[in-house]
Amino acid sequence: MDAIELVSPFDSHLHLRDSDALKTTAPLACETFAGAIVMPNLTPPIDSIEAAQDYKARILSFCQKPFEPIVAIYLTDTLKGEVLDLVKIVKLYPSGVTTGSENGVKNIDQYDRLFAAMQEAGTILSVHGETNDFVLDREARFATIYESLAKRFPRLKIIMEHISSAALAKLLDRYENLFATITLHHLLYTLDDLLGSKLNPHLFCKPIVKTPADRAALRRLAFGAHSKVSFGSDSAPHIRSAKERFGAAGIFSAPVLLPKLVELFEENSALDYLQSFVSDNAQKIYDIKLPRKTISLIKKPFVVQEDINGFIPMCAKETIRWSIR
Ligand code: DOR
Ligand code: ZN
Repeated sequence: MDAIELVSPFDSHLHLRDSDALKTTAPLACETFAGAIVMPNLTPPIDSIEAAQDYKARILSFCQKPFEPIVAIYLTDTLKGEVLDLVKIVKLYPSGVTTGSENGVKNIDQYDRLFAAMQEAGTILSVHGETNDFVLDREARFATIYESLAKRFPRLKIIMEHISSAALAKLLDRYENLFATITLHHLLYTLDDLLGSKLNPHLFCKPIVKTPADRAALRRLAFGAHSKVSFGSDSAPHIRSAKERFGAAGIFSAPVLLPKLVELFEENSALDYLQSFVSDNAQKIYDIKLPRKTISLIKKPFVVQEDINGFIPMCAKETIRWSIR
């Protein structure tokens, strides 16, 4: 096959940042995606409906093409049950586990009433599922928290964001109300790519890329487009010096997402499942209807830029076998 069309690609987990960075991130998103769930870990966090509406307007002011940003609300003490009817998705960051989680949750048990109200309102709970344990165990250690939430709030839809381990992949078929997003980088890379030869800070993210067995578990889910899984890039740009001098966590994958996904799915004879993985599953999981936007890709090599406005993209200077037409 030399060409493929993807209908209304959707990114279920995206960081667009704010202010000047939007000049870079928003056009990239609206060029190839019909919509995205936009993460609220800004400074200050997007933790109210008003802040989310203003942020959405700022995003759209940089979009030249139709694009539907769904801004998640950052879970803090100020979020009250009464407003939940107006909120599609609430993001839980355990305090201290990642970029912009300083305002996150210190004690999850304190939020039972809110989770009960979310369950009634049909609000989705999106979770960065990591503890503060040893780095390779952080995600697996969060499994018991997911299980407890899933059991105690059986009608609350819980998204395990950017799963990176076999330990969490296993939970999907055990609990009806657990869902997951998977990134491109966790499908591509393991610890060897990050630090097996020269340290590559541009592949450093939270949760960290893991073992070949973990990656294989994620690939089984993605390459069969498991119905409880959707694509969420977690593209998270940091300016070059923040990555190379200060070790900020986050991979800027937005400039390569669809060509690289097509390349990877083709290599693994899974192209038939890509449409479900990048759009159809998400539309069902999040109960959204996206405007139709058809993106054509052709088998023509493209060389990824070295630097995009001071941000270093994933796969910089590499050649990808597919390009956007
Ligand atoms: O690597 C990451 N970067 N993981 C996250 O959870 C947040 C993100 C960011 O915002 O930079
Ligand atoms: Zn993220």
